[in-house]
Amino acid sequence: MTTDIHRLINTQSALETEAVGKKIGSHFKGGEVIELISDLGGGKTALTRGLAEGLGSTDRVMSPTFTISRVYSSGALQMVHYDFYRLDDPGLLRHELVESLTDDRTITVIEWAHVVKDVLPKERVTINIRKTGEEAREFSIHYPESLSYLMKGLET
Ligand SMILES: Nc1ncnc2c1ncn2[C@@H]1O[C@H](COP(=O)(O)OP(=O)(O)OP(=O)(O)O)[C@@H](O)[C@H]1O
Ligand SMILES: [Mg+2]
Repeated sequence: MTTDIHRLINTQSALETEAVGKKIGSHFKGGEVIELISDLGGGKTALTRGLAEGLGSTDRVMSPTFTISRVYSSGALQMVHYDFYRLDDPGLLRHELVESLTDDRTITVIEWAHVVKDVLPKERVTINIRKTGEEAREFSIHYPESLSYLMKGLET
């Protein structure tokens, strides 16, 4: 059984959110899975932008809403960013996702994971983002002890 650790982080701007993502992304080793949950415009993609920066990718993260997935690489690692918004059935992408989830050189970040919940590993980081003001967001982060290295250096 895994007991989740829970922490709350507040940001006051998209840049601050990116900085949080950057800290988390700087600890990536490969194999991590991050599920992002919020309403539209909550800041999932903004956080992902930071994750890619932290990984060391120089490509600017854009929303994959219409392409479903985008890949960002740095050295031997790659981060695949999925967005299943509006998809009732992921089709062949489910297979692609499983490959990415099980590759130890790949970090998988997923927005709107409702249609692929069944293939997500238990050992993952789940981040719920809540809009607490025009530019204020609260990040509620759950993760197992085995992934706590990702949160090093994050202030509460
Ligand atoms: N503290 C904040 N953190 C993140 N984004 C913020 C913050 N304050 C304002 N914003 C703005 O909120 C919007 C967040 O958009 P973003 O695309 O990241 O959301 P999303 O959750 O990915 O939405 P979608 O579900 O449509 O993909 C951006 O326009 C960003 O500039
Ligand atoms: Mg998005």
